[in-house]
Amino acid sequence: MVILVTGGTGYIGSHTVVELIKNNYDVVIIDNLSNSSKDVVNKIEKITGSKCKFYEADIRDENALDKIFKENKIDAVIHFAGYKAVGESVKKPLDYYDNNVVGTIKLLETMKKYNCKKMVFSSSATVYGNPKVHKFDETIERGKAVNPYGATKIVIEEMLENLYVSDDTFEISILRYFNPVGAHESGIIGENPNGVPNNLMPYIQKVAKGELPELSIFGSDYNTKDGTGVRDYIHVVDLAKGHIKALEKLDNKKVYTYNLGTGKGYSVLDLVKTFEKVNNIKIKYKFVDRRPGDLDCYYADTSKAEKELGWKAEKGIEEMCKDSWNFAKNM
Ligand code: NAD
Ligand code: WQD
Repeated sequence: MVILVTGGTGYIGSHTVVELIKNNYDVVIIDNLSNSSKDVVNKIEKITGSKCKFYEADIRDENALDKIFKENKIDAVIHFAGYKAVGESVKKPLDYYDNNVVGTIKLLETMKKYNCKKMVFSSSATVYGNPKVHKFDETIERGKAVNPYGATKIVIEEMLENLYVSDDTFEISILRYFNPVGAHESGIIGENPNGVPNNLMPYIQKVAKGELPELSIFGSDYNTKDGTGVRDYIHVVDLAKGHIKALEKLDNKKVYTYNLGTGKGYSVLDLVKTFEKVNNIKIKYKFVDRRPGDLDCYYADTSKAEKELGWKAEKGIEEMCKDSWNFAKNM
């Protein structure tokens, strides 16, 4: 089976490509390298010993998509390509709608044209908005977006559901990730964002490397065990494996939606202390005000993915911290 992976040189995409190759899929990547580098293609080859086809192109470029679908008999698409920085989305909402929503429309139009009807889509726990409970399960309705980035994920989820109603030969799985962290055990690929990171683990990595002086912990007065925010961190390799399961389960009975998390919540301080312990490094931190828009505590109910996909995250927070540093220290 030939799988087109959009955004395949990115953080989650690259780890998923490795798992796809390990599972004997043929992989074609399209990435415009707006947030990754071409080097990753060689790194994937180094890990797997296999080559994958790479197209440096934008998913909004219909001609480029046409060329890819003409040159390859694509059986299914795993769609990661998009912008993901919450703060930036507030400053540049139109760019986010254009890249994430318009990009997905162009991709779906081309898929239709070439009768490729299978898609696994990268969504996010952010689509739940701010529900009253901490444990999010898939029966909770999509909420109100807390930022333009989240709004694009809500729009795309709705669009995919509308598309299926109009054409029930589509086979679609929507995966809602919680907080992906960690890196491939080889230390060859991982998360390396440009500039000052927004997310917690990349920020910790930079403090550990001495590239940033200290971590600011946003809020110490949340109603959580130690006052800091609680999230469901999931190892990126577990997440990648979830995509293979979702791909294998695709059928046209309905649009499937699954949470991908561990089901466990850890606080910011849990993550910092674990990172310090397993890597034997001190992380300097200070407490600052809460970050606007942050929720106090949430984590996934993973029972649906466990039951229907036969998938369960296996790696714990210690492995996440170890692998993150194993990658970051060599960068
Ligand atoms: P990433 O930025 O590392 O990867 C995205 C890749 O897509 C990058 O390589 C980028 O160059 C590419 N890209 C962006 N726009 C493109 C376009 N128009 N055409 C072609 N390529 C394009 O991000 P990631 O963390 O790997 O996230 C992948 C997906 O998962 C995104 O859709 C993101 O919204 C979603 N997601 C991520 C997280 C997270 O915390 N990392 C959480 C939930 C959902
Ligand atoms: C985690 C915790 C912060 C940075 C975001 C998106 C979400 C999804 C995953 C894409 C929170 C605290 C962070 C720092 C800190 N992405 N923190 N100091 O906000 O849970 O989720 O990424 O879909 O949509 O919103 O992740 O890593 O930014 O924050 O104290 O410098 O760490 O307050 O409690 P978040 P995060």
